[in-house]
Amino acid sequence: MKIARFSRIGFILATTGSAVGLGNIWKFPYIAGEYGGGAFVLVYLLTVLMIGFSIMIAEMLIGYIGRKDGVTSFEELASKNKHLWKFAGFQGLAGLLIMTFYSVVIGWIFHYVVTSLTSLPSSVAQAETTFMSMLNSGMWTQLFYHTVAFVWITYVLTRGIKGGIEKMNIILMPTLMIILLGMFAYATTLNSFSQAVDFMFTPDWSKIDSTAFITAVGHAFFTLSLGMGAIMTYSASMEKNSNLVKNAFWVVFLDTFIAIIAGLMLFTFLYQYGSGPAKGPGLVFISLPAAFYEMGIIGNIFAVIFFIALAFAGLTSSVSLVEPMVQYFIDRFNWSRVKASISMGLFFYLIGIISLLSNIDGFKETLSWGEKNFFDWMDYITAGIMLPLGGLLMAIFVGYVIEKQRVESILKPQLGFAFETWYFSLRYIVPVAMFVVMLNLIGVI
Ligand code: TRP
Repeated sequence: MKIARFSRIGFILATTGSAVGLGNIWKFPYIAGEYGGGAFVLVYLLTVLMIGFSIMIAEMLIGYIGRKDGVTSFEELASKNKHLWKFAGFQGLAGLLIMTFYSVVIGWIFHYVVTSLTSLPSSVAQAETTFMSMLNSGMWTQLFYHTVAFVWITYVLTRGIKGGIEKMNIILMPTLMIILLGMFAYATTLNSFSQAVDFMFTPDWSKIDSTAFITAVGHAFFTLSLGMGAIMTYSASMEKNSNLVKNAFWVVFLDTFIAIIAGLMLFTFLYQYGSGPAKGPGLVFISLPAAFYEMGIIGNIFAVIFFIALAFAGLTSSVSLVEPMVQYFIDRFNWSRVKASISMGLFFYLIGIISLLSNIDGFKETLSWGEKNFFDWMDYITAGIMLPLGGLLMAIFVGYVIEKQRVESILKPQLGFAFETWYFSLRYIVPVAMFVVMLNLIGVI
């Protein structure tokens, strides 16, 4: 069988497509807002540079030399305890679990693309009512759009690395960047732009406590798609003789750049037309539509293309969340790509329906345990526990389990004198940081 490989630019766009997602455009601005802007952004940038970039190189390396699905790569590359290390590859399951709520959110975005065309809420209060009624009683609407997301994502996966994933990213990612840059350019012409810049880049250290710090580390991780095998699986289809360090640099750079651009643009609109930055998870679905309303007709146009861009960002990430398990069933069980894609698609689609119902009045009570409903539990178990654990395992694997010589032979020529610094960070700094994040997220510290 001929092995499909990404082209050089295809790899960078697909991996950037994985990284740039709802995390950048929906989550980053609101958590930056909650933690007071500047200081948080600085901590986040430092973590991306010191921890995110290191793990990105490590995860790419495992895929690049393993050349198979995650389970097989871990198993074959382990110098000892192969049967135990194999289980690190089952992190791919985290991707399917993330999809059980990610797909529902993409559904909301589709719904907002359609409704923003004709009507926008005239106040934040009204926007909130609209959003909450969709969330708590719009069962059929959500189900319809969740189904659209499922069909789209599954279809792309059935078409494979080249004709599906690469092709989708080569079209959608540049479009997404043009939309965001265009809206950003408009934002720079508004008076409030400088206020947004101040907010994002003037550190207010009083807002930074250990929670803010840990949130920044956790987010750096989620936004770069690390710890679950998405980057690893894509890297298994990287061209031979690729420069991993350059590739990792581009992905980290573009992901960060897009988060900053999106943040500056949204805060400008919120200062100029809306209610300021600190608005929590409803920022994009509640405060923003109300701000767009104040812009008049151009607001409708902006709202539609903004939600289209957000949908694109979510869809390209989704594909990377499912692909690791698809690849696993193809490599280990000889399933056809179509069979593997549809099975994995149905898995997240059906469990996703439970997530969706767990926000609906009447089902909510049965589908909640403790403080959280099913939707929130999925988020918490994956982003809070599984991803940091995956990152920890990858750092240990590359830092201690693969022979140093092997790592060196590929990365020394690419990293040069920085090789030892990177290796040190992977062996000591990253494991400690990931461990602390996990303890905090599960509530131990
Ligand atoms: N990075 C994406 C975002 O910012 C989400 C994502 C895609 C992801 N693939 C992943 C997160 C793999 C962790 C692991 O929304």
